[in-house]
Amino acid sequence: MAKVKSTCGCCRGPKDVVSSTDKSPVSITVLAGKPGAKINPAMWGIFFEDINFGADGGLYAELVKNRSFEFPEPLMGWTKISPSLAKGTLSIRNDEPFDAANPHYLRIQSEGTAPFGVSNEGFRGIGLREGETYDFSAQIRGVSDAPLVNVQLYGADGTLLDSAQLKGFSSGWEKYTVTLHPKDTDPKARLQVILQGKGAVDLDMVSLFPRHTWKNRPGGLRADMVQMLADMKPGFLRFPGGCIVEGSDLSRRYQWKNTIGPVEKRQLLINRWNYEFIHRPTPDYFQSFGLGFFEFFQLCEDIGAEPMPIINCGMACQFNSGELVPLDQLGPYIQDALDLIEFANGPATSTWGKVRAQMGHPEPFNMKMLGVGNEQWGPQYIERYKVFAPAIKARYPNMQLIAATGSDATIFPNGKAEVEYLWSQWRKLRPEIVDEHFYRSPDWFPENAGLYDAYDRNGPKLFVGEYASQSVGVASTKNRNNWKTAMSEAAFMTGLERNADLVVMSCYAPLFGHKDAWQWTPNLIWCDNLRVYGTPNYYVQQLFSRNRGDVVLPVQLSKVENLYASATRDEKAGEIILKVVNATAEAVPVTVQANGIARTGSKGTVTVLAASKLTDENSLDEPRKISPVSEKITMPGSEFPHTFPPQSFTVLRWSAKP
Ligand code: AHR
Repeated sequence: MAKVKSTCGCCRGPKDVVSSTDKSPVSITVLAGKPGAKINPAMWGIFFEDINFGADGGLYAELVKNRSFEFPEPLMGWTKISPSLAKGTLSIRNDEPFDAANPHYLRIQSEGTAPFGVSNEGFRGIGLREGETYDFSAQIRGVSDAPLVNVQLYGADGTLLDSAQLKGFSSGWEKYTVTLHPKDTDPKARLQVILQGKGAVDLDMVSLFPRHTWKNRPGGLRADMVQMLADMKPGFLRFPGGCIVEGSDLSRRYQWKNTIGPVEKRQLLINRWNYEFIHRPTPDYFQSFGLGFFEFFQLCEDIGAEPMPIINCGMACQFNSGELVPLDQLGPYIQDALDLIEFANGPATSTWGKVRAQMGHPEPFNMKMLGVGNEQWGPQYIERYKVFAPAIKARYPNMQLIAATGSDATIFPNGKAEVEYLWSQWRKLRPEIVDEHFYRSPDWFPENAGLYDAYDRNGPKLFVGEYASQSVGVASTKNRNNWKTAMSEAAFMTGLERNADLVVMSCYAPLFGHKDAWQWTPNLIWCDNLRVYGTPNYYVQQLFSRNRGDVVLPVQLSKVENLYASATRDEKAGEIILKVVNATAEAVPVTVQANGIARTGSKGTVTVLAASKLTDENSLDEPRKISPVSEKITMPGSEFPHTFPPQSFTVLRWSAKP
């Protein structure tokens, strides 16, 4: 009989337990009469960053890439369409632009000898669905003569899917619109804007949107992708990242004020993931900010998530330039933070509250927390935090501040001493919440299911703000979202749940990956231009979030080697929720007991997430290969047998009246 060192789920101290080589029956006892900490309703949330075409080409439903010709190569994404008889010119101009914020536009001039114009390739193609309505719009200015403009949708194989005509252009900029109905579905279609007849027009803000967006908002978000988020019932949404907050240098940092107001006024910015990985260059990756801070707050409201914006604290990404704003010049950065709070929460009569109201949301968004910096570290961070925090608290004493611990809360790449230094400071400076990140191996996560058991209970609360099991290694292009990684995260998350008195929030990162345009893997949700699917990791997050419970219930395991458990109680439903990860290769029969309650119901639900192999994955073609399967079960009393399948994650819910 072997003994293994493990952690007691009840008292959280180290404990010798009998290993699975022992043949005596396994028991899991939920101490239902000894409820522990209240669980933050926002415990399980979402991390959004515009990486892997997460926003442009992803969640933001715009189908035209480089719609306002502001990419440094102004015709990137566009191709000249000039059949052999055609004579004409394309020129990029900036005199008398449609909008000074995005000054470039395209002039198409044709001799009229044959149709002449441009084609847009979209974001790795344009995804079109038969039977759906698409709204084309463009700012057009007539320049000479009276050419017609043909708006055409072509399939990847050259089939014309639909077309429409615009004409009668005035000599000033004007928005022209037309609707299109493709006769076929194609994930890789393209849009053509073709002049017919002699003449010239100026073109800007060329846009194509599906009519059907999330909540059918014009110019809105991809409905299927938001639905995936809504289905998680997330407690919070962290945005806009991630390293994107910091910028590789300060000129490229995320500035929320540039992301609100009319979309044509939002200035384009190069996306840091355009050039971050030389092994995955993405030269056509830019931020149009069509998904900006207003839309983020609105999304939070839509899906019932607490907004968690992260702001730049005067430091560029420390993996890149690490550029610093001198301490005596932090004023504008702090002002941005204060203005953001006013934008989110201020009355519609306040300066920034008024901007929010003008955008259609007079009521406040009720933002309660703010991250100061992303993955910052070192004394430079502390110096800046010390300026930021008092300035924010002086105006908004109830705003909960989130402070960082670099890119890994235990070691790489900052080093243990670095993290210890940060913690020594956080214990003194006492931000409400400290953010810890873990991009580690599938072994690390279960091994660290007890990580927070021994953490100091007198310091700040914890936010496990980025984590994901890396099947190969951080930033490896070979990382997979397979069942092994998902199960390892589930085991770790039982530890987060058991420690919900300390760990008040957590989220997986990154969120989205476009299969044809990603820089980073693994990701929680993958998509192409028409489809989206949740990885097994997604279903782990979803199961935790949808089975959160209100209070932690202590759990005692008679054996815990490769078996991980946590329990909570859902007050409203009057149910015990037991989560068990069986990471062994064998089914484990267990006697489940609920102690300390007078009466248990006999009805319950068991939900199992499992795969036949650890290497199994979901895919666009098999999106739910690994997904939760639920069935009703009967529990004969406060003690019942249950067999946990091999390599599985199980959620058991049963009613238990106190
Ligand atoms: O999630 C991808 C990146 O990992 C984030 O941008 C950054 O915060 C972390 O290093």
